[in-house]
Formats: sequence, C-alpha cells, structure tokens
Amino acid sequence: MNYDYKNFASEYGTPLYIYDKSKIESNYKKLKSAFEDHYSHFSIHYAVKANPNPAVIKVLGDMGSGVDCSSPGELEHALRAGISPDKVLYTGNYESPDDLSRVIKNDIKINFDDLNSFKRMIKLGKPKRVSFRINPGIGKGSHEAVVTGGTDAKFGIPYEKAFEAYEFAKENGVEKFGIHMMTGSNNLEPFFFAEAVEKLLTIGGEIFNRLDIAPDYVDIGGGFGIPYHPEDTPLDVNLMAKLICEKFKAGVAKYKLGNPELLVEPGRYLVGNAGVLLASVTGLKESYRNFVGIDAGMNTLARPSLYGAIHQVEFPYKKNSETKVMSVCGQVCENADILAHNIHLPVDIEEGDLMILRDAGAYGFAMSSVYNGRPRPAEVLVDGESSKLIRRRELIEDLFNYYC
Ligand SMILES: Cc1ncc(COP(=O)(O)O)c(C=O)c1O
Repeated sequence: MNYDYKNFASEYGTPLYIYDKSKIESNYKKLKSAFEDHYSHFSIHYAVKANPNPAVIKVLGDMGSGVDCSSPGELEHALRAGISPDKVLYTGNYESPDDLSRVIKNDIKINFDDLNSFKRMIKLGKPKRVSFRINPGIGKGSHEAVVTGGTDAKFGIPYEKAFEAYEFAKENGVEKFGIHMMTGSNNLEPFFFAEAVEKLLTIGGEIFNRLDIAPDYVDIGGGFGIPYHPEDTPLDVNLMAKLICEKFKAGVAKYKLGNPELLVEPGRYLVGNAGVLLASVTGLKESYRNFVGIDAGMNTLARPSLYGAIHQVEFPYKKNSETKVMSVCGQVCENADILAHNIHLPVDIEEGDLMILRDAGAYGFAMSSVYNGRPRPAEVLVDGESSKLIRRRELIEDLFNYYC
C-alpha cells in the first residue's frame, strides 16, 4: 500500500492513521477460507480492541464477521457500527456488575473469565448460555506482556478448576455451553495454536463428558501474528488452520461433542497490516545519538515503548541511498518515547519531511492517549481511489470537554 502521502498530509494533516479497506477485506477472506477448507461450522469474531473505529468494524461486519468485545465501551462501538447483538461475544475480565448488566441488557454471549464472574452475573440475571475462559496452562506471545495463558497470566480459569465452574453453572440451571481460551498475541508459529487447541479439547472434552454437555461452541481466541520485521516469517494461515482443525475434529470425535461451532477472535491479523501511521519530521538533532523527532510519539503509537515493538520506518519521498544511523522519537517528555532505535535512515532528512510507520492498523490508535496534552490524531479509511475521514483530529479544545 503506497498512497499519495503528500495529498493525505495536506488534506488531513499529520499525524494521521490511514487504513486500507481492501486489505482488511482480503485478510478476512484469507483467514475465513483457510478454516472453512477444513471445517465449515466456523466463524470469525473480530477483536474490537485492536481497532475500535466503527467504520473499521463496519468493513468487517459487512463481510459477515461477528465481534469480540472486552468492555461496555467496545460493545457500544460494535452495536453502533451495526453489528447485530447475536453476532457479539463479550470476553472481559474482573467484570464489574455494571459491565455484566450491559451484557444482560443486550442479551449477548459471554466468555466468563472466572467462576466468580459467573456468580456476580447470576445476582443480576441468568445468562442463557455459559462459556468459561480456560487457562490451559500454556501461553505464547511476541512479548511477555501479551502472553495471556500459562501460570503467570491473570486471565482465565486454571484447567484444574474448570470442572467446578461448569458443574456450578449446570446446577444453576444453565442449559447451553461454550468454551474459550486466548493464550497470547502475535504468534507467527502455526504449531503452537494446534497444541493449545488439543489441550483445550482434552480439558473441555473430559468436563463435558462428565457433565453430559454438548457445547454449542469452542472459541480458541485470536493471537494470529503478522510480520512486523522484514526477517519475520509470515504466519502460514493455511497450515495453521489445517493443524488446528485436525486437532479440533479429533477432540470433537473422541469426546463425542456433536457439531460445535469453531470460533476465532483475531484482531491484529485482520487490521494490523492494513494501517500506516503518517507523521511529519519536526526536529533533527545530533547528540550522543542522532535523533529524528516527529509529530507522533508514544502517545500516538504506544507499542514500541510499551513492548519494544518494531514498526518499519519509511521516508516515501527520500530516494537518497546514502544513510546514517538515527533513532526516531516523538515529542513526549519520557525517554521511552522512541519509535525506532538506531536504524539506517536517509542522510538528507529535513524538517517537514513525511515519514510512515508500517503495520500500524492494530493496537495503534486504540492505545493512543492525550499524554503531555497532545490531542489524538485523525483516522482515514481508503477505499480504492477515494478516502474518507473516519475520525476527526482531536483539538486542544477537546481536552477541556471533561473538566468540571
Ligand atoms: C479475549 C481476546 N480475544 C482476542 C484478542 C485479539 O488478539 P490478537 O489481536 O492477537 O488476535 C485478544 C487480545 O488481547 C483478547 O484478549
């Protein structure tokens, strides 16, 4: 995806998130067909947390995707984007009574993070269907902060306690069930997913057989990675889906679980490589290191300072092949505000030049903040030859909306 960035900068200003509709659509189609080649009772529920812009949610909703939400705010984004409540999943953690009452009000499916979550819920109303998020004892992600399964994870029910949870729900009159896990994010290795699915099916199969339950769905979460670095090997989604479905079908057959729906909840895979962040150079400095300062920082794109994440940096209008080693930083008063450390950049960069950071469609704007009093950037959706503003740039005036 290469755009007329000068045009975008003059029309919408910088910093600017730019998303490509057709890329989101092709990512969705690729993932869907990879799974449907092996198991047809399958659906994708887009993880709204990756990019909650209603226009982005709508692109996926129009393709037939459901959604997974983790908070009442995300739920509201999905509903306002036109997703019908029967296509919404809610997977929160440590949910408050208010969170849970919104789930009841909208009558949506929920993956409970704990038996206590379910106990809090039944004080408010009995859900028609119960699914528990299982921590299968293993997890994997591109950074320890995004490993969400295993003994250090705050998420899910340890598999040793899972039977008790389902038994309690059944004793309390629940008749329909599902099972869920989400063990980590940004995995590029296809074999891990199949290993986790096999474990989930074994844990769930034993429980469901003992309690005489045929689950409606098995939700294996998201976590499908994208290559941020040129040396990363892209995830082979066809192989991944084949291996997952083999383990899934074997588990379903072994435990005679009927015909459960297989659900996935990808965020990053669907929107990550469909977005770029466009920024302008605001200052150049030669110090103990050389710095290129831009008008986007950890407040705009938090992933590099939060996880040491890498986003490829490009200067689309610099053709000079001579480079020097520089670090790209934002304007925030934290030394963690570095978007790229010690990389080769064109020697002739000047103030005002346009720069892009690749693969910024997931966990980019979603994690942005107004730290240091910097309003958040605008977002644009490109559809073929046309582009549309889908969130206006915040203004300094907007920062005063909430003071009393
Ligand atoms: C419950 C749940 N589902 C889905 C996702 C999406 O993960 P990813 O963007 O890695 O696919 C997350 C991410 O944290 C999550 O917590």
